[in-house]
Amino acid sequence: MAAAIKETVSNLIGKFSGAEEAPREPSAEELQQLQKKYSDAGQGQVFAFIDELPTVEKSRLFHQLSTFNPTRINELTEETAVTLEPLPESATASILDSDPADLKKWYDAGLKEVADNKVAVVLMAGGQGTRLGSSAPKGCFDIGLLSQKSLFQLQAERIAKLQELASKAHGVTAATIPWYVMTSGPTRGPTEEFFEKSNYFGLDKKNIFIFEQGVLPCISNEGKIILENKGKAAVAPDGNGGIYQALVTSGAREDMRKRGIKHIHAYCVDNCLVKVADPVFIGFSAAHDVDIATKVVRKRDATESVGLILQKNGKPDVVEYSEIDKETAEAKDPKNADLLKYRAANIVNHYYSFRFFESIENWAHQLPHHVARKKIPFVNTETGAAEKPEKPNGIKLEQFVFDVFPMTPLNKFASIEVRREDEFSPLKNARGTGQDDPDTSRDDIMKQGQRWLEAAGGIVITDAEATGVEVSPLISYGGENLEFLAGREVKAPALLEKEE
Ligand code: UD1
Repeated sequence: MAAAIKETVSNLIGKFSGAEEAPREPSAEELQQLQKKYSDAGQGQVFAFIDELPTVEKSRLFHQLSTFNPTRINELTEETAVTLEPLPESATASILDSDPADLKKWYDAGLKEVADNKVAVVLMAGGQGTRLGSSAPKGCFDIGLLSQKSLFQLQAERIAKLQELASKAHGVTAATIPWYVMTSGPTRGPTEEFFEKSNYFGLDKKNIFIFEQGVLPCISNEGKIILENKGKAAVAPDGNGGIYQALVTSGAREDMRKRGIKHIHAYCVDNCLVKVADPVFIGFSAAHDVDIATKVVRKRDATESVGLILQKNGKPDVVEYSEIDKETAEAKDPKNADLLKYRAANIVNHYYSFRFFESIENWAHQLPHHVARKKIPFVNTETGAAEKPEKPNGIKLEQFVFDVFPMTPLNKFASIEVRREDEFSPLKNARGTGQDDPDTSRDDIMKQGQRWLEAAGGIVITDAEATGVEVSPLISYGGENLEFLAGREVKAPALLEKEE
């Protein structure tokens, strides 16, 4: 036994000290064959110095390279390589340079779908908004508008207005846009209470479907499921990609089927400018007969923290800002050096055909899980003590809503660029941070209202301190219907709540 150990140790010492035996010298034919194998695979450069090597080194290189298959190495390299390209022009359009006739055509077609009760909206509101520093669901947040309306109320009033516009345009009594609100364990109770207390913001309760996404256990850095307390595993919402499974298990998809829904607009709770069920978007997506479409805005600059919509290895995809290198982020559009090459910022406004939702069971389980390192309070399973870690002690697993994009063929996917000032102002950070915070949200709504009013011929009286007009969505969904303000003077900051 001792001898065996000694032998092993001496073998190891032999290996690690580099005291290897001289390898067998290959024959000229063997060397030639191996060289051919490598050059055929386009890897002949590894023999660049073969003729100048001493015999022992020549033999070592031969034996080392004999252990690899250069063709297989090429395959592996291809598998791991990532090629990025903007989406092809055939799959994109831009509101910024579209023919106004197309925009009108899409709007009219989308409004008709609303009038025919074929359009539903799905709100993703399961996030906990930790960066905002509020314990209530983000949708309940008052961004400081004169009306003190919450994000939920702004969205609800846009739904109400669009129902009214569609009903009037097509002479139907009550066009209905059902609103499916995805919450999570932490946000469901407070969201339901808020809706109830606000009397469903004037919408019909039977057209609002609040449901809950799934959860996954939190895992320690050692790979063990964490106990939150002695009788409960620590869990966290399964990410906004949990939406697909939750639509099925909650019965929301079945409800859509019963209502005859054909088009779905899904969006995030935190965007105060979101054009819920936007007829232009619905009409554009329906006209292209796609399964999925997305809205994008022009990325502010190379450093903005947004995901990018592009082609990854020839498939539609989103690359998060943390995953892209500086050179790619800063690359310029070869056709226009004033623009970034990758500028299609993801604003999480998605169109889905109901036809596509029919296939959720086939792919939802294939969506990858992303890792978020977090500080997770736990009960110590050895001492029984409750502990609050100071640094990340484990991971939460999340699916992302856009991970379904690569499963969609490019000819069933489209993207439309919209104006940031009209459609995207997310609430991410606490007041005072100056970017994507409650003040920037409020200002963006007030600026939009002022633009609408001035475009309608109204006069806004401002001074350095006082600017902006809040126009209630119940008066105007997207700037329409404001002719009654032509020539009228409005002193900013103002709130227009009623048509009078
Ligand atoms: C998200 C996008 C990012 C985009 C940015 C624009 C994802 C994964 N990333 O980033 O590409 O540029 O918005 O604002 O979508 N949510 C749930 N359940 C969850 C987690 C989140 O419903 O388990 C909801 C949130 O309530 C929110 C939305 O998903 O409405 C986005 O979540 P958030 O964490 O704010 O995403 P970002 O990191 O900001």
